[in-house]
Amino acid sequence: MSFNDTFIRACLKQEIEHVPVWYMRQAGRYQAEYREIRKKHTLLEICRIPELCAEVTILPVQQLGVDAAILFSDIMVPLGPMGVKYDIIEKRGPILETPFRNADDIASLRNIEPEEDLSYVLETIQILARELKVPLIGFTGAPFTLASYMVEGGPSRNYIRTKQMMYGQPELWNRLMEKLGSMIVTYLKAQISAGAGAVQIFDSWAGALAPEDYKQYVYPTMKRIFQELKEVPVPKIYFGGVSSGELLPLWNDLDADVMGIDWRVSIREGRKRIGNNHAIQGNLDPTMLLAPWSKLESKAKEIIDQGLEAPGFVFNLGHGIFPEVPGDMLKRLTDYVHEYSHSVLNKQ
Ligand code: CP3
Repeated sequence: MSFNDTFIRACLKQEIEHVPVWYMRQAGRYQAEYREIRKKHTLLEICRIPELCAEVTILPVQQLGVDAAILFSDIMVPLGPMGVKYDIIEKRGPILETPFRNADDIASLRNIEPEEDLSYVLETIQILARELKVPLIGFTGAPFTLASYMVEGGPSRNYIRTKQMMYGQPELWNRLMEKLGSMIVTYLKAQISAGAGAVQIFDSWAGALAPEDYKQYVYPTMKRIFQELKEVPVPKIYFGGVSSGELLPLWNDLDADVMGIDWRVSIREGRKRIGNNHAIQGNLDPTMLLAPWSKLESKAKEIIDQGLEAPGFVFNLGHGIFPEVPGDMLKRLTDYVHEYSHSVLNKQ
């Protein structure tokens, strides 16, 4: 089988024969095989065993026939070598031993040296770059989303402590953003050198911010990150998180190739708000995967039709797959996206 680079071409707004598709959380608890592996290993153990981690990354590519793989890891992984002590608790998420709330806490954070600190990640990427017939997406969390876990000490509904630091100690907040920004650039460059064919920055919870706060407290760091990655030879994707519709106009001049959006804004409206410089990725509501096929099909068709209105579209979900989703629905959806978009593109 030859290498399928459709996903890369779509990210770069080049010609494609079908719309490429991959899913956030395509490796995870909806798979019986993953649940079996998790009986023997914690999530972080899987991340630290390159052969096993590569196997978990490849599995959904084989099962679903998606056009890209995403490295199996977690946004918390590079925070360990920065000095953050954390664990990932099932059904809750990342939990910190001690949250980061004052100047000493932030000062204690050090930058990472990926070749030494995260060699297992780079080794996993090297294995995957050899074995995969589709591009591998490397990733990291974005500064706001990472900071939210660090300052709150765990998942949060209202981000009270995070916003308290942002509004009350803006200098401290900026130092935290700066340190996370540097880590992100270093880490993504190392992933790309090891063989990642694209990178995605997850800002899952940025939608909690009002646009003017995003602009003041988060945008400068995002701007700098994508500027520093401008010359890297792979597509860069910004998943700006759930409920972030009002932030989309602010992403217009970020030097990312692709913008990921959720289902609250249509693909057509998303393009209008972000502008046509960027390719778009999204945006099926993951709960639609539990709907009857006819409903799912007509929604997928609408997303594809709008996606094909301009160059540069990648089919994805608006957020990650839930454990309740039946794997055969995902396979059926993947086949449908490929077949339907192929028929539309052949008629053009
Ligand atoms: O297939 C893939 O998408 C790659 C693997 C991946 C994981 N985490 C593995 C994982 C990726 C890309 C992430 C990113 C991540 N981690 C994000 C950004 C994406 C998003 O979903 O918004 C965030 C916010 C985290 C933090 C985190 N880790 C949360 C909120 C949870 C869920 C807690 C739960 O149990 O529901 C985790 C745990 C986690 N990371 C799982 C997986 C597959 C859950 C399964 C398990 O515990 O084995």
